[in-house]
Formats: sequence, C-alpha cells, structure tokens
Amino acid sequence: MIVVGGSGSAKLATALAKELDVVCAKTEVRKFPDSETYVRIFDELRGEDVVLVQNGYPDDRIIEMFLLQDAIEEGDAKSLVTVIPYYGYARQDRKFSPGEPVSARGLAGHFELDSDEVITVDIHNESILDWFDVDVKNVTAMNEIGKYLKNKGVDIVVSPDKGGIDRAKTAAIAADCDFDYLEKKRLDANTVEMKPLKSDVRGQVVAIVDDIISTGGTIITATKQLQENGAKAVYAACTHGLFVGHAFDKLRDACDEVISTDTLDNPASVVSVAPELAKAISKR
Ligand code: R5P
Repeated sequence: MIVVGGSGSAKLATALAKELDVVCAKTEVRKFPDSETYVRIFDELRGEDVVLVQNGYPDDRIIEMFLLQDAIEEGDAKSLVTVIPYYGYARQDRKFSPGEPVSARGLAGHFELDSDEVITVDIHNESILDWFDVDVKNVTAMNEIGKYLKNKGVDIVVSPDKGGIDRAKTAAIAADCDFDYLEKKRLDANTVEMKPLKSDVRGQVVAIVDDIISTGGTIITATKQLQENGAKAVYAACTHGLFVGHAFDKLRDACDEVISTDTLDNPASVVSVAPELAKAISKR
C-alpha cells in the first residue's frame, strides 16, 4: 500500500501513511505559466493499493484531485481509495432556488473518478453518500474531539443546530457528558439567529461542536447565547476549520478555545483524523 497526498492534504497524508506504516509518495504539484496544474507522482505504483488524500476545496484542489487520480490509473495501481477529508460544496446539497445546481451531487460523480472506494470525514450531510456509484464511507472525528473535550472537563456538548445532534451525541459519549442542541435560523450568509438553549448552562463548561466553521457566525452567535445564559466557559470545536477572513481571530476573542481537526491546515488543528482514517482503510 502507498499513500499519495495532494497539496490540499499533504500533512494529513503524511500522518495517515505513518498510522498505516506505509510509504507516503513523493509528488510534484505546480502551475504552468497559463495557470493550468501540473502533477507528478515519483513512486512506482504498479500493483499497489493506493490511498489518495486530497480535499475537495478550494476549487484548484479539485482539479488536482482529478489529475492525481488519472496519474494513479496511468501508474497501473491495483486499487484506489480516494480520501476526501473536506468535501467542498457539501452545503449545496439541494436546489435552494430554481436554476441552481445540486453541487454536492454533481461533484460526487466526479470525485469518484477511477476510484474503488471513496472515504469522507464528517461530511455535512450523509445522504450525499447515496450519490456515489462506488463504495463510499464517512468516518467521524467526533470520538476524537470528544476525548479532547473530556480532558477539558466539559459538562455539556451543544450542537448549534438540530441537524448536528448526532455529531454532538457522539462527542458527548466520548466526553462522558450531556448533549443538547440550539435552534438556528440563518438570516443570510453572515448572520444567524438562535433560540435559547433549554438546558441550564449556568456555571457549566460548554463545548459547541459543529462539522464546519466557515465565517464563524454560527459559533459566535451560539457562544454569546451560552455566555448570556451563564456558561462558565465555552469551547468551539469543529471537524473542518475553514476560518474564512478574520474568523479565527474573532472566534479566539469570543470563546475560551477554538478546536479543529487536521482535515484543513489551520492554527486550531489539535485533533488528528489520521487514526480514524487508518482504521477505515485497514478494515477494507
Ligand atoms: C451549516 O449547516 C454547517 O453545519 C455550519 O454550521 C456552518 O457551515 C457554519 O458556517 P459559519 O461558520 O459561516 O456560520
């Protein structure tokens, strides 16, 4: 087996290869003068089970993924598992207005190129997996996040919306504490509104757990709500820390700690998804 890391997931690919005790291939990725992407894999792939790790975000990395998949096919690999730690466009999982695409579905048909299996991590909506024609599985970082939160003495894990309740539950079981959810209403891309939490958080250490932090608007609104209700400390944890613009600084000011995994490179990646990915790959 050999792991190939795209430039969107190079560190995670190295960590995964270490977990699996296999080689991480040497690759070259650069731009042609006209901005087209050039990729090359230097290791021999003939007859190998190849694990490609590459985020589906930002757009350039998607093109790179397709080129790496083609290079792996050209290298006569025995099999290919494509690991997509962060699945871009997952939040456009339905048509919100006439004339729009279902982007998450459109990309599923491309992300599986030449693959025998696709593995995602805390994909925004698990029903996206139904749009793949190859074997697909989603692994969760919530157990590892929960273990990290346990060491912080968290009393309750809160999802910022009802849709994330299963993630909050998984993290809470690992953290050995309670869980609940807030009711979120998105007003626009940057503004959300939340109803107060039913659980009493006075004097409690609370962790808000979400799949994605993008602008930070959701978590900051939830944090304020919990602080107004008397929370002693508020931790913000997510699998995918996009932290667009100044989101990270704003979150750091608002919360007691910002926690993310290493699906995306960012200053908050304190939890690795490599062990969970290695387990999913070893079980194939
Ligand atoms: C939305 O349903 C997701 O689960 C996240 O809550 C959302 O993407 C976070 O976005 P932002 O950080 O921009 O509020």
